[in-house]
Amino acid sequence: MPIQDTDYDVIIQIVRQQSGIVLTREKTYLLESRLAPVNEKYKFADFSGLALAMRGGNKDVIRDVVDALTTNESLFFRDMKPFDRFRDLMIPALVQSRASQKTLRIWCAACSTGQEPYSLAIILRELAAKWNGFKVDIIATDLCRDVLKRSAEGIYSQFEVQRGLPIQYLLKYFKQISSDKWQLNEDIRKMVQLREFNLLESPVMLGRFDIVFCRNVLIYFDQDTKGAILERISKQMPEDGFLALGGAETVLGVSSAFELVPGEKGIYRRTMQKSAQIVMPQIRPEITNKPIAANEKTLQPSRV
Ligand SMILES: C[S@@+](CC[C@H](N)C(=O)[O-])C[C@H]1O[C@@H](n2cnc3c(N)ncnc32)[C@H](O)[C@@H]1O
Repeated sequence: MPIQDTDYDVIIQIVRQQSGIVLTREKTYLLESRLAPVNEKYKFADFSGLALAMRGGNKDVIRDVVDALTTNESLFFRDMKPFDRFRDLMIPALVQSRASQKTLRIWCAACSTGQEPYSLAIILRELAAKWNGFKVDIIATDLCRDVLKRSAEGIYSQFEVQRGLPIQYLLKYFKQISSDKWQLNEDIRKMVQLREFNLLESPVMLGRFDIVFCRNVLIYFDQDTKGAILERISKQMPEDGFLALGGAETVLGVSSAFELVPGEKGIYRRTMQKSAQIVMPQIRPEITNKPIAANEKTLQPSRV
């Protein structure tokens, strides 16, 4: 069922307002294929019905459309280098400077199906003997509820565990539950607290973070939105904190709140001078920040 231009415009405008995700006209095919199940769920005769419901402010429909249009591609130890730097640069530096407080807070700001925060948790577990006594919180957030549910289960296909996950970690931290499925052990899952969070909103209620992984999500936003997000993140970090971005992302020309750690592609620290004021885009997302109920009850901060 083809989508009319006017309906297309309504849908992409509301999606952008709610999530920051920028979709262009070339994405018509993607939109049609991803929204067909949403159309079916609500029994709209065509995409005009869907667009009308969104324009009328139907929150459930808007929510499902935004969820359907997020790209959730992720893998364990994606690009490897940021995880090496987490282990060999960030953790040693912060463990030294936090020797008296013995606490570390880490935020995975668009965690998708959990591979990124769980890769960090595995590294921390491997380092446990070395940094014993530190209290480490890993908070993993995403806008999309489906991926958070998947993260909480920690179940991955054979294909997913073969992408980036070293075999020794697969054997040590996962249990095979069927011919094609592996589940991450509960003790690693418990190291990560999952929350629904929209990056267009203020992260103040999430607290302060020593390390932020905000990877492969800024690419979906326009320049102003990227800058506003980076500015808000920087306000939640101490000056010696670390920010990791994705391979195709940079702060250059976007925000002066962070500067590159010399020689470390994709790894940033807060800029020492006062952060530049960046005009916040005029957006009022209705998708708000909620804990993932099942997960919040059971997941506790971990001691490494
Ligand atoms: C491609 S995945 C990146 C996953 C992981 N960080 C990685 O690098 O493998 C992008 C994620 O960003 C999330 N996302 C998109 N817009 C968002 C927003 N406004 N707030 C929070 N998360 C968002 C999507 O739901 C998706 O799970």
